Amino acid sequence: MRPCRADVIVCRSAQSAAMRTAELIRSIIVTCVADRGECFIAVPGGSSPKKVFEYLAEPRLAEMIPWNDVHFFFTDERCVPIESDDSNYKLANDLLFCRVGTPQDNVHRFHTELPPAAAADRYEGKIRSLMGNEPQFDLILLGMGTDTHTASLFPETAALEEKCRFAVANEVRKLGSTRLTLTYPVINNARNVFVLVPGRDKAEAVREALQSDVSFSQHPIQAVQPAYGRLLWILDSESASLL
Ligand code: 6PG
Repeated sequence: MRPCRADVIVCRSAQSAAMRTAELIRSIIVTCVADRGECFIAVPGGSSPKKVFEYLAEPRLAEMIPWNDVHFFFTDERCVPIESDDSNYKLANDLLFCRVGTPQDNVHRFHTELPPAAAADRYEGKIRSLMGNEPQFDLILLGMGTDTHTASLFPETAALEEKCRFAVANEVRKLGSTRLTLTYPVINNARNVFVLVPGRDKAEAVREALQSDVSFSQHPIQAVQPAYGRLLWILDSESASLL
């Protein structure tokens, strides 16, 4: 798989990378709502988006965003109850949705109370019912692990090969668990894909993702290549230190 074709922004710190991401998200939402009356965004879990959620919830940005016209989905989810601290839904709900008053009808989560395959089916059905059979998110925000996984598209897992479904249950042997995840067909159909990767621990993975030419089954992030949309990597000086 060829290295990613991407725009790359390198910010001074993880904090400034999160702030820049939040400001870019605000701009996308305002533009989409002005153009089409609504905006569809998918957000990840993990630590990278936490400060982004917090900045978006601060009055300085929150007051400029038409939250009632924004629909939130998740790039992936762990098979845990929504009350669990491991829940990606809980993370975004606590740090963002509750603070800005996102209507709960605008938050579309994986129903992890169902068996994984049924939860993925229901989630895909919600995507299709709201966005049609060629869903085009206005923004998909991704993080990346040190193994270059993104969403819950982990190296050497079945979901990497999914060409039709938009959401699947994906057995991740290295974690000893099943995850729920968006797939490349819907990720690569997005208008904008941001990959937010701060921190020194990600420097080698960032170099591999952006510069090495190896199989995407080893580097899942490399297959994130929007067909028509914008791919933007948002790094900080530490994660970009080996470029
Ligand atoms: C998740 C995320 C996952 C995350 C990466 C990076 O559910 O954990 O969706 O893909 O983006 O693992 O995690 P950090 O942001 O914590 O480094």
